[in-house]
Amino acid sequence: MKNKFYVTTPIYYGTAKPHLGSLYSTLLADVVARWNKLNGKDVFFLTGIDEHGQKIEQAAAKAGMDPKEFVDSFIKEYKDTWHKYHIDYTKFIRTTDPYHIQAVQKWIKDLIKKGDIYKSFYEGWYCTPCETFVTKKDASKKEDESCQPFCPSCDRATIAIAEESYFFKLSAYQDKLLHFYKQHPEFIVPKERTKEVVNFVKSGLRDLSISRTTVKWGVPFPGDEKHVAYVWADALNNYITAVGYAQKGRENELKKWWPADLQVMGKDIIRFHAIYWPAFLMASDLALPKQLLVHGWIKIDQKKMSKSLGNVVDPLVLLQKYGADPVRYYLVRQMAITHDSDFSIKDLERHIASDLANDLGNLVRRMVTLAYKNDLAIVPAINSWSEKSRDLRDASWNIIDDFQSYMEDCQFHMALARLWKFINQVNSYFHEQEPWKIVKTDKQKFVEIINATAHSLRVIAYLLWPVMPKKMEDLLSRLGITFDLHNNMLQDLELGRWHHAFTLHKGEPLFVKPELMKESVEQDTVQEKEKKEDYISIDDVVKVQLRVGTIEQCEEIPKSQKLYKLQVNFGKFGIKQVLSGIKNYFTPEQLVGRQAVFIFNLKPRKMMGLESHGMILTAKDEDNFSLISPTTQIENGIQLK
Ligand code: MSP
Repeated sequence: MKNKFYVTTPIYYGTAKPHLGSLYSTLLADVVARWNKLNGKDVFFLTGIDEHGQKIEQAAAKAGMDPKEFVDSFIKEYKDTWHKYHIDYTKFIRTTDPYHIQAVQKWIKDLIKKGDIYKSFYEGWYCTPCETFVTKKDASKKEDESCQPFCPSCDRATIAIAEESYFFKLSAYQDKLLHFYKQHPEFIVPKERTKEVVNFVKSGLRDLSISRTTVKWGVPFPGDEKHVAYVWADALNNYITAVGYAQKGRENELKKWWPADLQVMGKDIIRFHAIYWPAFLMASDLALPKQLLVHGWIKIDQKKMSKSLGNVVDPLVLLQKYGADPVRYYLVRQMAITHDSDFSIKDLERHIASDLANDLGNLVRRMVTLAYKNDLAIVPAINSWSEKSRDLRDASWNIIDDFQSYMEDCQFHMALARLWKFINQVNSYFHEQEPWKIVKTDKQKFVEIINATAHSLRVIAYLLWPVMPKKMEDLLSRLGITFDLHNNMLQDLELGRWHHAFTLHKGEPLFVKPELMKESVEQDTVQEKEKKEDYISIDDVVKVQLRVGTIEQCEEIPKSQKLYKLQVNFGKFGIKQVLSGIKNYFTPEQLVGRQAVFIFNLKPRKMMGLESHGMILTAKDEDNFSLISPTTQIENGIQLK
């Protein structure tokens, strides 16, 4: 089945309502699902809730509720949040669903028969929040007074357990797993994470305890009622039970969808997905998932956002204030999947105001308003294009290629950074052509400029649809286009023909600058007015983020004597556009490829109609003009200390 795509999210513990971290995993899967739909694929997108285990048993007891009643109370919250964020899943699995329970029991019975599951005794440590067995070897160093080791993943104290248990023969799969990783270097994205998995496996795999007798809330172990299945053995299997595994009459479904094409998860649960899960599948003679996408954490002030730390952000509060699509955009653009990223409201507002309201929303508004003002609601097709418009058309082809390859590599933030470069190009085209003047002298040329801008916006809207579906459907409707997945738009875009006519529609602004932006700008100006001191405190120093970046591109800005337009690579922070008054001192060749230091968190400002996101540091005396650069090659994005 070349034309199918099966994508999964982790199933979330049913102990609380979703937070921004859970939304992030789900959103990435939704973006991938939509991207594949746009590419004409038949997509199955699975998400759901992990409802068994000690963690839930304890949380329910604390709430004075029966565990099932307890998890039931969160289902609506999850489904509501996903719907409000336009998460278009195919199936929502609950591990208390009877078909799942029966299939897990069948899996256990089959592996007992095969000899891959056997009964023994477990004595060791257990981390209930992570639902994981912890050995002394992998425990984090500190131990509490009772000598209990701490969990290496969440750093909390473990509990001691000693009980009869069934074991899965994980040790038997060590070599097979190592062979698999070697044969499939593409298995884990980002690739760098493969090393930690391989090292863990190489350090020696011990058989995995897969049942508990001191926990009651779980899948009853077939043939031994004292035991329930260990929650991860139950939960991981959701990826196959949801598509029919071990269920009579659903064999074709399993055949159609399994193996999954992409499984999304946070870095905290990579071991379960990259080691235990493939071993389970090997034992069942099932194919392994094609790829795991392992993302970093959303942090608040450098700490992981989590319920236990009490620093969670409620996605519904953000939604009410900013709307679903702007939040989706911000998470995909700002959180580099490969790293942990800090979330801040101010930054979110800044991006909504600058990227969405200014760069994109204003372009749409200016074009439609100008066209209407000059009686051009219906924009005829153009037969012959001027050089500037042809350049823009070529740029629109290039962006499709680049965007596609970033998306295929799951580098979503880079795809968006690249797309924004094109949006700025369209803005420059519109600004430089001055259609508001041309309309007075050359109506034909005016029509051409509006039509070229509309074609560019059409490309932008389709490419951005996986990230901001509703806003982009709205944008397309302003161009007179009804979004329809069956039209196979990407193929149409790839043909690159700019032969369309457009019927433009006026509407409300596509994006609204957050009210709070005004307040924060006001606050900044008040602070600026405050009396100046000769000294600054360390607090002032740390406010300025100085970061290293590589100048990837340097272009002249027409009509500007001093400015260059630089595209600067800040590593995990993406590519930023910086305008810099250094044209009289360097040629573009002298700058491209050089590293320099930039003020990274300078409020974006507009010059010559273009946005600048930062400032390059220089030093100048009577004879020399110098860039401030690191003396050796340094990772892009690194902050100066
Ligand atoms: N129930 C298990 C998964 C079983 S999958 C067979 C679980 N649940 S969880 O609710 O704790 O986490 C689910 C997902 O949310 C993980 O991918 C985790 O990384 C993600 N996030 C939770 N907090 C997060 C952040 N602060 N940032 C980004 N994602 C994080 O683990």
